[in-house]
Amino acid sequence: MSGFDANWLHQREPFDLAARSGTLAAQFCAAVASSANGPLRIIDLAAGAGANFRALAPLLHGDQDWLLVDHDPVLLDAQQAQIARWATDQGWSCHALEGGLSVDTGSARWRVRGHLLDLAQSLEQLELAGFDGVTTTAFLDLVSAAWLDRLGALLAHARRPLLATLTVDGQRDWLPRLPADKFIHDAFLRHQSGDKGFGASLGSAATPCLADRLTAHGYLVRTARSDWHIGADQRDMLLKMVEESLAVACATEPTASPLFAKWSDERTAQIASRQLLLTVGHLDLLALPPA
Ligand SMILES: C[S@@+](CC[C@H](N)C(=O)[O-])C[C@H]1O[C@@H](n2cnc3c(N)ncnc32)[C@H](O)[C@@H]1O
Repeated sequence: MSGFDANWLHQREPFDLAARSGTLAAQFCAAVASSANGPLRIIDLAAGAGANFRALAPLLHGDQDWLLVDHDPVLLDAQQAQIARWATDQGWSCHALEGGLSVDTGSARWRVRGHLLDLAQSLEQLELAGFDGVTTTAFLDLVSAAWLDRLGALLAHARRPLLATLTVDGQRDWLPRLPADKFIHDAFLRHQSGDKGFGASLGSAATPCLADRLTAHGYLVRTARSDWHIGADQRDMLLKMVEESLAVACATEPTASPLFAKWSDERTAQIASRQLLLTVGHLDLLALPPA
């Protein structure tokens, strides 16, 4: 299993929401709205606990049918719980359907079903032409160039719009800077290219690589930045990022662990005195099929 836990996805969700490109999301909504008759059918790849649904469903008008695909059964269970809680918090009614949920906002009904599938092995089992739009978030940096070729071929066949948000682009700016940042960053970039179940990951190269593939298939591709800006008051998120950076660096370069531990101690002290800021680079990509 990929090891993405629901608590971490929940912690990052507000940062993702603030970072997403509103312009590309609006253009995606316009593209899928114009192709549909009846409820909009959207498929979300590597949906985790359903954050992409919660971000995009309120921006799409009218009734919707969502299929949330992931290979982790624990996250599929978390989807149901988190969507039900979110809908209730918004004052909407929500009830169970076979294999999913129905959310009634008063002006629209959204049907959401989870689907257990290993996208590395079984991507081609998905019939993308059966949907009006394809989405994914915080996923493509895990995949390989060969897997993007497969996704590109399926999209080209189905001719459906794609919105791929929050793909890591390799930038991490810690402020104030420390000399050891460079070593931490090198370790992070090396970790990014490891195999996450799809062959060697593209990491920060994923968005330009997908843009090239889809442009070659005749798609109109646009990208926009969707960076996290983590402020000095957002201490839990800063601590999480320092903790994750330390673990990745020590796993990648164990002999330099004492240097990384010293870096982590300095960063933790800066968090305590509210001196630390962090920007984490991401890109959003919108791809519109040829007419
Ligand atoms: C960083 S999380 C993003 C989850 C969600 N899109 C979000 O934004 O909260 C990456 C997701 O990719 C899923 N994933 C990783 N490898 C997968 C595979 N082979 N098949 C399907 N899903 C996979 C994980 O289970 C996890 O939910």
